[in-house]
Amino acid sequence: MQKVKKQKIEIALEVFESISELPKNIQELMNKAQHARENAYAPYSHFKVGAAIRLASGEITVGSNQENAAYPSGLCAERVAIFHTGATHPNQKIEVMAISAKSSTQKLLEPIGPCGACRQAMAEYEQKQKEPIAVYFMGEAGKIVKVASVMDLLPLGFDAKFL
Ligand code: THU
Repeated sequence: MQKVKKQKIEIALEVFESISELPKNIQELMNKAQHARENAYAPYSHFKVGAAIRLASGEITVGSNQENAAYPSGLCAERVAIFHTGATHPNQKIEVMAISAKSSTQKLLEPIGPCGACRQAMAEYEQKQKEPIAVYFMGEAGKIVKVASVMDLLPLGFDAKFL
């Protein structure tokens, strides 16, 4: 009988205790994500998410979740931010993305990672630019998780090389 090969995948995370522990420029980016979060249109979930992207030029773009009465028509903050960036700055490298979530029904004190569909969309832009995009994510307050690359959030993902 053939032996089944078992493998483990490790991902590297950095965990910061609070915003004040982040490097200054990331604090600024996270502040922009929190500010963008307030522009979320979330009348159904009452869950507001903001994302801020810093480009190689230093320019910052933002997005927030936009919901719809036809629920699946809405879009998460991360995809609003990255699609908007792709549409308006198609040749600019994305260096880093900061994400913050806030709920009106509970205080979110743990890091809230991007959903699977957003990870997929973010991974595509990372592959397109052939350079990693660092991602920092948090709730309303508390710890922040950093990954150095979107690929750390999407091991064994599907991409264009299979097409
Ligand atoms: N949401 C995001 O914006 N980003 C995520 O990664 C998770 C979920 C939004 C979608 C919806 O508007 C609300 O949060 C509740 O799922």
